[in-house]
Amino acid sequence: MKIANIEFGKYPIFLAPMEDVTDAAFRLLCKRFGVDMVYTEFVSSDALIRDINSTVRKLQVYDKERPVAIQIYGNEVEPMVEAAKRVELAKPDILDINFGCPVKKVARKGCGAGMLQNIP
Ligand SMILES: Cc1cc2nc3c(=O)[nH]c(=O)nc-3n(C[C@H](O)[C@H](O)[C@H](O)COP(=O)(O)O)c2cc1C
Repeated sequence: MKIANIEFGKYPIFLAPMEDVTDAAFRLLCKRFGVDMVYTEFVSSDALIRDINSTVRKLQVYDKERPVAIQIYGNEVEPMVEAAKRVELAKPDILDINFGCPVKKVARKGCGAGMLQNIP
């Protein structure tokens, strides 16, 4: 399997992104036990561009955990583009957008799975 220019071999194991779970310590632990790629938890685009400290900290990734994907979510193009630019500065191997979160507090704001309800 290949994503962008990263070759993962035939049956790679990915650590799923999980809010409040996949912080750097957890990711490094999973890496030590053989995971091929790790994900951050999802990161709110709006909180990121508002420089909310606890959110900005979620962008901290370490070389030891690579390849690492940073996942963002949001509900509008402009703030998500701005958030993506900030994510780029953290140099993840992959930037992932959450289109699947069904949790009410996320989807009813048009984020995550809610984004798929309004595709121009
Ligand atoms: C506590 C928790 C938090 C999660 N947070 C995220 C998230 O931030 N982003 C995301 O894409 N999926 C999130 N998920 C979904 C998981 O990444 C995964 O897709 C889901 O648990 C199904 O995994 P499975 O097919 O291995 O059972 C979360 C799941 C759990 C249980």
